Amino acid sequence: MTSHPRDILPHDLEAMASLTPYPQLLREIADKARRTIGFFPAHNPRALEYPWVLARLSGDLRGRRILDVGAGVNPLPFVLADRGARITTIDNHPVTRDPGAREQWNEWGFLDYGKFDPRIASLWAAYEDYDPAEGFDVIYSISVIEHLPAGVRRSWIGNFARQLTSGGMLLLTVDLVPGTNALWNRSEGQEVEPQQMHGEFATLLGELRKAGFEIGFTDIRRAIPDSRVDVGFVMGWKPNSVSASA
Ligand SMILES: C[S@@+](CC[C@H](N)C(=O)[O-])C[C@H]1O[C@@H](n2cnc3c(N)ncnc32)[C@H](O)[C@@H]1O
Repeated sequence: MTSHPRDILPHDLEAMASLTPYPQLLREIADKARRTIGFFPAHNPRALEYPWVLARLSGDLRGRRILDVGAGVNPLPFVLADRGARITTIDNHPVTRDPGAREQWNEWGFLDYGKFDPRIASLWAAYEDYDPAEGFDVIYSISVIEHLPAGVRRSWIGNFARQLTSGGMLLLTVDLVPGTNALWNRSEGQEVEPQQMHGEFATLLGELRKAGFEIGFTDIRRAIPDSRVDVGFVMGWKPNSVSASA
């Protein structure tokens, strides 16, 4: 535990360690979080989401190009850089996180990870406008895409399909309205759009399939302690034949 106001409480971390299938990874990520950004988010779903992403990336990551979309302030880029991956983060939040005011940080904001770890490149940009010169082996995004209007979400999915190399992996976690499959429809306290336009977990899966992704795994976790959201998990593949037409 640290004195950071946003650090998860020890009893919550213990409770979540008993709920994730990957308690060792959770502890590794929590240690790294406290040593880098200064806190592991006191938002219990993250204790399921981060280990789930890391567990999908258990192979040899040396030299693999990985993109964290809507990275905010989170420990995974540091953990993945330790495993030898070449990490890029992208976030367009208007607040740039000041290393001198770490006690004010939470998961939201633009953090220049490269200031802490030169192995990580960080871009302050809207992902929908991002047009990288090189493709990525893995793209992941934790609790971001559900906060976007449906039109922007679909343009992100088109970007995922274009920017992943053939055979590349896409990992998404999304907040859901508890007890339902509705995509969470608020962003920093504001409603994003009418729920009917915003869509459901199945809407997202359909959009991914339409863009050419093969869906390898989905899951929904409910009744997460002290959480106002349920969480959906999606692992997709860009097959070798996808022409990225979304
Ligand atoms: C709920 S936070 C999640 C942060 C982080 N992924 C985590 O694990 O906690 C959502 C982040 O997505 C970023 N974001 C929202 N819309 C974006 C966009 N269009 N392009 C890039 N980043 C965006 C926000 O600025 C914010 O930092």
